[in-house]
Amino acid sequence: MRILITGASRGIGAGLHAAYRGMGHEVTGTARNGGADLWQLDQTEPGSIAALARRWDEAPLDLLICNAGIYTDRSLRLPDYSAALWAEAFACNVTGPALLIAALLPALRTARGRVALMSSVMASDALAPGGSYAYRASKAALLNLGRNLSRDLASDGIAVGIYHPGWVQTEMGGPEADISVAQSVKGIIARLDALDLQGTGCFLNHDGTAIPF
Ligand SMILES: NC(=O)c1ccc[n+]([C@@H]2O[C@H](COP(=O)([O-])OP(=O)(O)OC[C@H]3O[C@@H](n4cnc5c(N)ncnc54)[C@H](OP(=O)(O)O)[C@@H]3O)[C@@H](O)[C@H]2O)c1
Repeated sequence: MRILITGASRGIGAGLHAAYRGMGHEVTGTARNGGADLWQLDQTEPGSIAALARRWDEAPLDLLICNAGIYTDRSLRLPDYSAALWAEAFACNVTGPALLIAALLPALRTARGRVALMSSVMASDALAPGGSYAYRASKAALLNLGRNLSRDLASDGIAVGIYHPGWVQTEMGGPEADISVAQSVKGIIARLDALDLQGTGCFLNHDGTAIPF
C-alpha cells in the first residue's frame, strides 16, 4: 500500500510510520520541519498543504492517516480562552485535515483509497465531562467532518474511519497515560485493516469498541 501519515515526527504518527514500513508498505510521513525521511507539512498553512499535494502528484494513495493534531487547552479554565487559541485549535485539528483530504482527493480516487481521522473520545457529545473546550470542540468537528465525508466519498469507493487511539504515552498523552504507542498502533492498524465501505463512518476506539457520540 501507498500510505501517507501526517504528524509522523513523534508519538502515534511515528509509531504508525515505523510499523507500516516494517510491514513493507510504501510510507510517507510528514513533520512541520520536514527532515531527511519526512515531508514538510504544516497543516495550518494552506500553501504547505498545496505544496505537499503537488509533490504527491496523482500517484495512487491507498491510505491517508490524518493523525497530526494539537491539544493546547488541557489546563486552561474560563475565562482564559482567547480567540487565537480557538482559531489555532480549529486550524490544526479541523481545517487542516479537511483541506488535505480535498487536495489529495484525485490520488485517493485513483486508488479507491481509505481515510483515517485521528479524533478522540473527547469528541463525544454523549460523554461530555466538561473542560478542554477547544480540543473537544475541534475533535468533535473532525468527527462530524469524517461522518459526512464518509457519505459523500462512498460513491468514489473511498471509506472513511474516525478513531480514538486510546490514552497514549506520548508528548500529548503524558507519561501517566494508559497505553504505550506500540499498543495503540497495533490496535489502530487492526482497525484500519478492517476499514471498508460497509464500515465507513465508524467511530471506534483503538481496541475496536464503538464510542457513543
Ligand atoms: N496521546 C493521546 O492520548 C491521544 C488521545 C486521543 C487522541 N489523540 C490524537 O492522536 C493524534 C496524535 O497524538 P500524539 O499523542 O501522537 O501527539 P504528539 O505526540 O503531540 O504528536 C503530534 C504530532 O502532530 C504534529 N503536528 C502538530 N501540529 C501540526 C501542524 N500544524 N501541522 C502538521 N503537523 C502538526 C506534530 O508534528 P511536529 O513535530 O511538527 O510538532 C507531531 O508529529 C492527535 O491528533 C491527537 O489529538 C491522542
